[in-house]
Amino acid sequence: MNQNSELYKDLEKVLLTREEIAEKVKELGKQITHDYSGKKPVLVCILKGAAVFFADLIREIDLPLTLDFMAISSYGSATKTSGVVRILKDLDNDILDRDVILVEDIVDSGITLSYLTKILKQRGARSLRIATLLDKPARRKVKDLNVDYMCFDIPDAFVVGYGLDYNQAYRNLPDIGILSPRIYE
Ligand code: IMP
Ligand code: MG
Repeated sequence: MNQNSELYKDLEKVLLTREEIAEKVKELGKQITHDYSGKKPVLVCILKGAAVFFADLIREIDLPLTLDFMAISSYGSATKTSGVVRILKDLDNDILDRDVILVEDIVDSGITLSYLTKILKQRGARSLRIATLLDKPARRKVKDLNVDYMCFDIPDAFVVGYGLDYNQAYRNLPDIGILSPRIYE
């Protein structure tokens, strides 16, 4: 899909192009390959937002890894997290003694990941790290959250594309853009 598509007309601007994203994802894949050398990590995709990033990232990691998927929902409005997180789909496999890497699309307030890491640590993972495509540090509400791997620091704006949605739409944009406020105001 190119940027002349109808879907792009709802964007204020393109923030990160597919080429910029691909380059960073490749670098992150190399870093994880290096850091987990000799290990068999399990990569956990947080559905649905991280699905596109996840599909690209795992193919840049040269290790005998396994995959698992989790779906959660946080109650709230379409552009703000409420802080109440519910598990819609749990992991299929046990993570006892496994090296777990949680793959998320974006860390905003940090509430979702802070809650998830607490739950997963109780299940006896050997190690637990967070890999996120985007980080909005200006909006962080949780202070104790450690983001281990991050591709891009972005300003406080609502973004869509490359898996990220607004009311389930725009996930299929190959680039990441700032959504025009007129769409959600
Ligand atoms: P947190 O709990 O506030 O860190 O919320 C993280 C979740 O909110 C992400 O996994 C996204 O699903 C969603 N989110 C936060 N900011 C954005 C955004 O700019 N665009 C799309 N989704 C977002
Ligand atoms: Mg999400």
